[in-house]
Amino acid sequence: MDQHEKHIALVTGATGGLGTAMCRRLHEDGYHVVANYRNEEKLKTWLEEQEKDGYTFDTAKADVCQFDSVGHMIQEIESNIGPIDVLINNAGITQDRPFHKMTFEQWDAVMQTNIYSVFNCTRHVIEGMRNRGYGRIINISSINGQKGQFGQANYSAAKSGMHGFTKTLAVEVASKGITVNTISPGYIATDMVMAVREDVREKIIAQIPAGRLGGTEEVAHLVSFLASKDASFITGANYAVNGGQHMY
Ligand code: CAA
Repeated sequence: MDQHEKHIALVTGATGGLGTAMCRRLHEDGYHVVANYRNEEKLKTWLEEQEKDGYTFDTAKADVCQFDSVGHMIQEIESNIGPIDVLINNAGITQDRPFHKMTFEQWDAVMQTNIYSVFNCTRHVIEGMRNRGYGRIINISSINGQKGQFGQANYSAAKSGMHGFTKTLAVEVASKGITVNTISPGYIATDMVMAVREDVREKIIAQIPAGRLGGTEEVAHLVSFLASKDASFITGANYAVNGGQHMY
């Protein structure tokens, strides 16, 4: 890596299972990792765990649902640490419920966190990336944005929307040295998946040809590759990491 490529990577929703694995992997790759978080309580324990394992991260607080709050966070990062070259839009939540019982609040919360956040974060980094002629944007979507899933009308809509966004932005910024890609993980061993009722989860695992949940590091490896210079001709793509559960 030349000096410019001692990149600064911002990972949103960093304290979750996938976010943690991505932060660690990018740290191992030599990035200066900035971990975005919302919950102060959770952060403290999380940072202690990371430091115990030898990982040091800068942290940046912002609610990714709030455009101005994200703008402030990004301004702070860029003036105190440096320009953001890699953005991983990873923050996400579920509020699963069959659609006929879904409330507006459940719909709205998932839209705000899973798709409005993508606009909020990307909009604030894109001008800098364009001016510098380099950038990597990786949107963490889901198998359930590709195939739909009982109880996830809100989540599937948002996750599917992420890839539509990826495709358009990829076209718009390809000539500026910026790549934009989507990763669609299947069922990965995270708290989010473990929160699914056990009997339901068992049935889902039975549908995965690999016969198991994915590991968080299996998604992080791909993040690492797509963030690298080697992936400069890959843009607008959607990578499935799902153990064969869904092919398209
Ligand atoms: N297809 C068709 N019908 C289904 C069904 C399915 N997959 N699942 C349930 N049903 C039916 C049931 O048979 C039942 O029918 P009857 O009322 O006629 O008996 C009815 O729907 C209600 O089923 P439940 O008892 O399961 O309903 P519930 O309200 O208790 O639970 C739910 C609903 C919480 C959405 C539950 O079904 C569920 O957890 N589903 C899994 C959702 C899921 O996969 N979430 C992923 C979270 S992790 C993640 O999102 C990460 C990622 O990206 C992969």
